[in-house]
Amino acid sequence: MQKRLLIIYYSYTGGTEQMAQAAFDAAEGESDIETLLVRAEDCEAEDLLSADGYIFATPENLAAIAGVMKAFFDRCYYPVLGKIEGRPYSAMVCAGSDGENALKQVERIAKGWRLKKCVEPFIICTHAQSEAAILSPKQLGRAGRSKCADLGATVAAGMAVGVF
Ligand SMILES: Cc1cc2nc3c(=O)[nH]c(=O)nc-3n(C[C@H](O)[C@H](O)[C@H](O)COP(=O)(O)O)c2cc1C
Repeated sequence: MQKRLLIIYYSYTGGTEQMAQAAFDAAEGESDIETLLVRAEDCEAEDLLSADGYIFATPENLAAIAGVMKAFFDRCYYPVLGKIEGRPYSAMVCAGSDGENALKQVERIAKGWRLKKCVEPFIICTHAQSEAAILSPKQLGRAGRSKCADLGATVAAGMAVGVF
């Protein structure tokens, strides 16, 4: 049966959405993998259970993962605990200036689920620090999009050949 890669994301001003979309577009190039792109508010435990690998993408808000992303993890954590162990995952964080705490949180939750980190997660910094910059729509540069595309393609390819 075809393996399924699930990309779960939340985005307020578009940065994380572009990251997730770039990863999705690249992963879709892997014909042996079915890739789904789902917003965190629409993602349920069944979606996690029916996937074989995951990419989590979130903004860092107030030194933490975005609240909507946290609500997704809160909603799904126990319903899938013990049922998705060993599946591969990676993560991406979109941050104005830091992002480390959000990434740490995602990695901690994934560790709780006993997921296997298959590609090193990373942070993309939008350099938004003033109120005006933070509230403005984000436009990811080509280098950032390409990094996200590489992550999506690598996770999908690794799943397809069975190394992850
Ligand atoms: C309420 C709020 C809190 C934020 N707190 C942080 C923070 O703690 N660290 C950081 O690096 N960026 C912070 N940011 C900036 C966002 O991470 C940045 O704007 C990012 O591009 C948001 O991703 P998005 O475009 O996908 O919504 C914050 C933004 C908002 C709206």
